[in-house]
Amino acid sequence: MDIQLWRETLSPYVLAVDEIVVKFKHMINEYRDIGRYCPIEQVEGRVKQISSILEKAHKKGIPIGDVEDRIVDIAGVRLICQFVEDIQTVVDIIKNREDMKVVYEKDYITNSKESGYRSYHVIIEYMVNTSKGPKTLKAEIQIRTLAMDFWATIEHSLQYKYKFNMPTQIRDRLSKAANAIIVLDEEMSAVRDEIMDAQNSFQLKANLVSDILNNIQNLYKKANKREIVKIQDEFLKIYETGDLYELERFHKELDIISEGYRAQSL
Ligand code: GTP
Ligand code: MG
Repeated sequence: MDIQLWRETLSPYVLAVDEIVVKFKHMINEYRDIGRYCPIEQVEGRVKQISSILEKAHKKGIPIGDVEDRIVDIAGVRLICQFVEDIQTVVDIIKNREDMKVVYEKDYITNSKESGYRSYHVIIEYMVNTSKGPKTLKAEIQIRTLAMDFWATIEHSLQYKYKFNMPTQIRDRLSKAANAIIVLDEEMSAVRDEIMDAQNSFQLKANLVSDILNNIQNLYKKANKREIVKIQDEFLKIYETGDLYELERFHKELDIISEGYRAQSL
């Protein structure tokens, strides 16, 4: 990295983070559209500040020219999951992608760090197309649960506050909190199926209602007013019961009615 030109050097990393974030956010939407549980709950990304890059290079004795090669988290993306079980699924999703090549993995979940930090890291190679042509760079993807993320965020702020002199008593509290996070994740895993069921049927219902309303809206242009009012009343009645099965039946019925109008207009 050329220190005078750091803005230009970092530009492809900005593009990489933006692209990777968009891709994973889109994946969340894809799952939602088909009413399926998504193993990714949240996506975040950032490019490391130049001051942090220089600080890290200095600390690790990395010459400026080797920074892009040896500091692998200039581009960083964080994928946050609801359950520990989702983490491996997400790792597999990344490994199966053609646009991301995993070159290194660190499993700080099986082997948590001394601080109590838990997370699964993969280092990937990723290609971006810039105005100067294609460039393959490294990026770090951290995959962790909401609970692990909560702990890491708090611990990071305290690390920042105390630099290298964190009082033992705070260290101990963080260590206790890390254990509590393990228990919390385990408890959540125990009710995972139930939570997933609830979320799935919530999304299915939301998608169904949206389809039904679209259908009714289209019928406005074709059906007579009395029929529309009848359909709307029936929809509201079923909607209030919240019965997924009834909503599905009504959805099919509407499809048949719409089909009838379509046939008439041909
Ligand atoms: P750095 O820790 O970044 O200097 O690099 P490293 O080569 O030691 O890699 P490591 O896998 O240890 O850390 C990579 C990233 O994981 C860090 O930049 C942090 O974002 C995160 N991380 C690692 N250890 C901890 C920790 O103890 N607490 C918190 N909050 N985050 C950590
Ligand atoms: Mg480290």
